[in-house]
Amino acid sequence: MKIFLDTADIDEISFAVSAGVIDGVTTNPSLIKQAVEKRSGSVNMEEYIEKILELTPGPVSLEVISVEFEKMVEEARLLHSRFRKHGNVVIKIPVCSSLDGVNNLYDGLKTIRKLAGESIPVNATLVMSPEQAILAAKAGAMYVSPFAGRIDDYIRDKIGMRRGRDYQKSEYYNFNLMKNVESLMIEKTLSSKNISSPKEVYLDNEVKDAVSKLNDNGISSGVELVKSIVTIFRNYGFKSQVIASSIRNARQVREMAEIGVDIVTVPFYVLKEMLTHSKTIEGINDFVKDVVEPYRKIFAR
Ligand code: E4P
Repeated sequence: MKIFLDTADIDEISFAVSAGVIDGVTTNPSLIKQAVEKRSGSVNMEEYIEKILELTPGPVSLEVISVEFEKMVEEARLLHSRFRKHGNVVIKIPVCSSLDGVNNLYDGLKTIRKLAGESIPVNATLVMSPEQAILAAKAGAMYVSPFAGRIDDYIRDKIGMRRGRDYQKSEYYNFNLMKNVESLMIEKTLSSKNISSPKEVYLDNEVKDAVSKLNDNGISSGVELVKSIVTIFRNYGFKSQVIASSIRNARQVREMAEIGVDIVTVPFYVLKEMLTHSKTIEGINDFVKDVVEPYRKIFAR
């Protein structure tokens, strides 16, 4: 499994590269905004991106800023030709760039197809369902990025939880626990009614509500979203690589690795979370304290 760093912060990239653990970088306009704001807005963007590319030992995803087919193609060509001499540029295209769910519905897919035909590598971004992933792969995306954390947020939102109030952004979503809760809720609903046929169960509104709330069209978590996409791509030998994105904690990284995803892109704080363990800290303190003099002398030459 490859690990990409999900950031546009050059200090974080430089640090992670020197630790030898990252194989690429993914950016998006929000991450670039954060990096620029951290530097109080004073960034020569072109030089800054050149440096990121030169530092990174693998693909760096840069996103277009428009939503219409012609403009996205133009921007992708510009980004690719302007920066490719500095590193491995991949262009991020939203799988569906419609701002209202009506207009420009197919512009993302058309752009992916066009760029793939010109051998410009594309990372299909904002993928929230296996169905979108299939279309992105069919259109020729080299990478497909399902947003795991945002699906976990979406499901928690559906049951009335609010980020910041009921859970933190980096908090693991325990979807296995919630699946058990779902079964218990259905059982409770059924036992409180006088339902005598499977048809009545199927048509009962409370049951319908219970089975639709804790998932997004049958996908009960971000991890399940990625698992479904990886399974489908393997079933059909799709060439697109899956980048598990919108990762919020180390446990998600482990679960993505268990699924066998190609790449996980992680924020810098998740790298730290992957590395640290209280028992490791305790252990190293003991080892440092326990060094006896005869052993220390070996190193004192
Ligand atoms: C993916 O490449 C995106 O840049 C990113 O993972 C989105 O993460 P977020 O949902 O935490 O903003």
